[in-house]
Amino acid sequence: MKKLFLETLGCAMNSRDSEHLVAELNKNEPYNLTNNLEDADLIIINTCSVREKPVAKLFSEIGVFKKRKKNGAKIGVCGCTASHLGDEIIKRAPVVDFVLGARNVSKINLVLEKRHSVEVDIDFDESEYDFGEYRNNPLKSMVNISIGCDKQCTYCIVPATRGEEISIPSHLIVNEITKAVNTGAKEIMLLGQNVNNYGRRFNSDEQCSFTELLQKISKIDNLERIRFASPHPLHMDDQFLEEFASNPKICKQIHVPLQSGSSKVLKEMKRGYTQENFLNRCKKIRELVPEVTISTDIIVGFPTESDEDFLESMKVLEEVRFDQLFSFKYSPRPHTEAIDFENKVTPELAGQRLTILQKRHTEILDEIMELQLGKEEFVYFDELKTGNRISGRSGGGRLVYVDGSEELLGQIKKVKITKISRASLDGELI
Ligand code: SAH
Ligand code: SF4
Ligand code: F3S
Repeated sequence: MKKLFLETLGCAMNSRDSEHLVAELNKNEPYNLTNNLEDADLIIINTCSVREKPVAKLFSEIGVFKKRKKNGAKIGVCGCTASHLGDEIIKRAPVVDFVLGARNVSKINLVLEKRHSVEVDIDFDESEYDFGEYRNNPLKSMVNISIGCDKQCTYCIVPATRGEEISIPSHLIVNEITKAVNTGAKEIMLLGQNVNNYGRRFNSDEQCSFTELLQKISKIDNLERIRFASPHPLHMDDQFLEEFASNPKICKQIHVPLQSGSSKVLKEMKRGYTQENFLNRCKKIRELVPEVTISTDIIVGFPTESDEDFLESMKVLEEVRFDQLFSFKYSPRPHTEAIDFENKVTPELAGQRLTILQKRHTEILDEIMELQLGKEEFVYFDELKTGNRISGRSGGGRLVYVDGSEELLGQIKKVKITKISRASLDGELI
């Protein structure tokens, strides 16, 4: 059997695209995945372009592939960087055999046929395409509910790499989840750049909001847990939050991406909400679901961000006390408005702000984790570890390890937390 070396960078959407790539390849000819570059007949890198660093990394990695690949092995560049650089990739690195954009995954067998093929059409619509079946871990399945993004956040390249937002018809989503449940998934993760904007645009005359979609999905027998990423604070209406709170199948974990705590910067970013709106939504979530875990994304050093603006982000961090923080230094990206903004923040200052933000969040996190000791959680075990250990997630999404083996895989069990660390918890079955 042919061997595939597949490296996936970026977000959950790219991880799902990588599964689709494998499934599509297998429709034509079965491939075994390998971690060994030298063994591979096909090397694919599924790229991310959200910040500058991974792009520079791409060309150095292609250099490594070129040196180490076996004779005749093909190299493909897929994903978001492929979408926006297109044939430039082949001009800079002719060793690359094909370039396939983030919205052209279904064309993988086509580009394999002809050397130097480039398929990066961001208007291409895969929202109703029937991808083959392949999952890295059938116990927890990712399911796309929309493609693309219609927001124009001024820092973000994603709309230029994934094109306009189209919702996948709800019956296709329900079918896919039913299949996943029948092959062992008790938990699913709904994916989209703006999940709670679901229903904005269909190819048909279907009408279905995200709240309605959640209601439809929860009727699927034997599906026990629903997660989703990423929702947008702007679309967190009361109806959605009430569904989130009252639907027992929805895990009480929510990502509420802040980006900046300063209403002035949020306006420059075109996020569509103010600090006040954001805090109001988080307050409402905590009122409705006291045990909820809230995660967020924050960018520091966006052009025009003053010391006072940065302190507003710190203020929101203090008020919401996020359970998880993903924080980034602003990175100027092509095809975005902010690349031309004046009053840039120096990388040194942005670095200092990032350190302050992360240090304070670590202190908050230590306090939050301290409170987990002795708690009882329902954990869905989805991964075997070495040394007779097994891990899973609590409803709030925390990683929990216990002693145990295969027979626990795919089971939801009550666990008492006996040990804490910043990134995970240890527990005992009770
Ligand atoms: N659709 C998601 C975000 C996808 S991109 C949302 O709206 O939340 C993931 C994260 O990368 C963003 O939330 C943002 O915090 C970060 N990001 C995007 N563009 C960036 C840039 N130019 N510089 C630094 N961080 C960026
Ligand atoms: Fe990017 Fe904004 Fe769309 Fe998220 S909502 S993908 S940050 S443009
Ligand atoms: Fe995801 Fe990176 Fe593309 S975050 S959408 S893979 S630019």
